[in-house]
Amino acid sequence: MNLKGRSFLKLMDFTTEEILYFIDLAAELKEKKRRGIRHDSLTGKNIALIFEKTSTRTRCSFEVAAHDLGMHVTYLDPSGSQIGKKESIKDTARVLGRMFDGIEYRGYGQEIVEELAKYAQVPVWNGLTNEFHPTQMIADMLTIREHLGKLEGVKFVYMGDARYNMGNSLMVACAKLGMHFVACTSKKYFPDQKLVDYCTEVASKTGATITLSEDVDKALDKADVVYTDVWVSMGEPDDVWEERIRELLPYQVNADVMKRARDSAIFMHCLPAFHDLETKIGRDVHQKFGLTEMEVTDEVFESSQSVVFDEAENRMHTIKAVMLATLADMQ
Ligand code: CP
Ligand code: NVA
Repeated sequence: MNLKGRSFLKLMDFTTEEILYFIDLAAELKEKKRRGIRHDSLTGKNIALIFEKTSTRTRCSFEVAAHDLGMHVTYLDPSGSQIGKKESIKDTARVLGRMFDGIEYRGYGQEIVEELAKYAQVPVWNGLTNEFHPTQMIADMLTIREHLGKLEGVKFVYMGDARYNMGNSLMVACAKLGMHFVACTSKKYFPDQKLVDYCTEVASKTGATITLSEDVDKALDKADVVYTDVWVSMGEPDDVWEERIRELLPYQVNADVMKRARDSAIFMHCLPAFHDLETKIGRDVHQKFGLTEMEVTDEVFESSQSVVFDEAENRMHTIKAVMLATLADMQ
């Protein structure tokens, strides 16, 4: 498998074998880190991290992974560069591509990261766009494999806003890896039909299935994984909170929902999560709408079925794998 020079923009660009390769490589790198075996084979390289939206996990994962691989990192925050305001993406790509060996980008439209990759001449890694969050996928799939021992045949239920980056990406990941994906939400939040058609076509070759359902009972029956994400994503206006709460509360992951899944089911969330009143937004929503928890209850979040912190740790090992595979000759 040689992925050197490739950008990592969305899972649709990769075959099932290539995706499994990233997961296997991440597991290997995780074990090396655990055993204290150095793996700084990219010493002397430099990467740029562009964040037009905020981040805890993705930024820290890129930084720690780069350091473990021996690389230096330059971080460009949402206000600290000329990008988009004084300089186009096309020009920025050609400047940064002359200085760096790889570029991470987190921002708004998918077309921006695609344009960056088109002109940079070095690998570009998508650290989240409105449409996709592909590095999160490798971490999520590694986490599922660690807990359930397999990916193929796993029944994966996504609850909540399924038409944004997480719902979209998870549907593609499940289709590529032969899993049974169910988006369990109100019709309005079903993923885009074109993407559903693409995933259904992929699924017909991998043994996966794609289901969209408003019926919580049916959707959760024999579920192995129950997944959710925030109801309002970064970059969305504050005034959508009211309708999101109204429309998505029936799809909140709570103890009753988890009871309908298999006893062995795990709960997952890309994080950050609104499961208590320990955040500013959580308190604001509480004041305005009276809710003390949103997409997931604190009970489920803190339960033994919740694997959210394994998932968060795996962001680092999997981002490391993506950088290593696309920057190094792996033969
Ligand atoms: N899951 C995730 O991407 O987290 P951050 O927004 O903290 O990077
Ligand atoms: N859907 C969320 C994912 C955060 C990791 C957002 O875009 O804000």
